[in-house]
Amino acid sequence: MSECLACTRREFLAAGTVAAVGVFLAACGGDGESATGPSKVNLTVTLASFPALGAVGGIAQVTTSGTPIAVVRATASSYRAFSMACPHQGTTISISGTGFRCPNHGATFNGNGAWTGGERTSGLFEFTVASNTTAGTITITS
Ligand code: FES
Repeated sequence: MSECLACTRREFLAAGTVAAVGVFLAACGGDGESATGPSKVNLTVTLASFPALGAVGGIAQVTTSGTPIAVVRATASSYRAFSMACPHQGTTISISGTGFRCPNHGATFNGNGAWTGGERTSGLFEFTVASNTTAGTITITS
């Protein structure tokens, strides 16, 4: 778990009473929805619709409305999905090269969702991804 850099003792204790790890991160980030990602996602993505995912390391934004989600092709046969809501204050981040950049305060994240620079914050919320190679789809859930 990432350390809480800006929480007051009161915020930390309040967060500790709730079992969900995501709520703890929300208290640290100052914006619950953005720091933890949405509460319920169940999205099936047809990989052929996103040419950027044709190569390992490719990144594509797979939602155009609602929850902004990016998929990263991690290996030849595996994918990872991240919330594009900045964990700092919820601004929608942009794909930037092999990672992401927040236009609001400049936080940057690599293709693994880890914070790499700019405004200090936690890593990106990661969804669960299940692949269906026969159908050429992945299903993203939270
Ligand atoms: S909202 Fe993204 S760095 Fe502040």
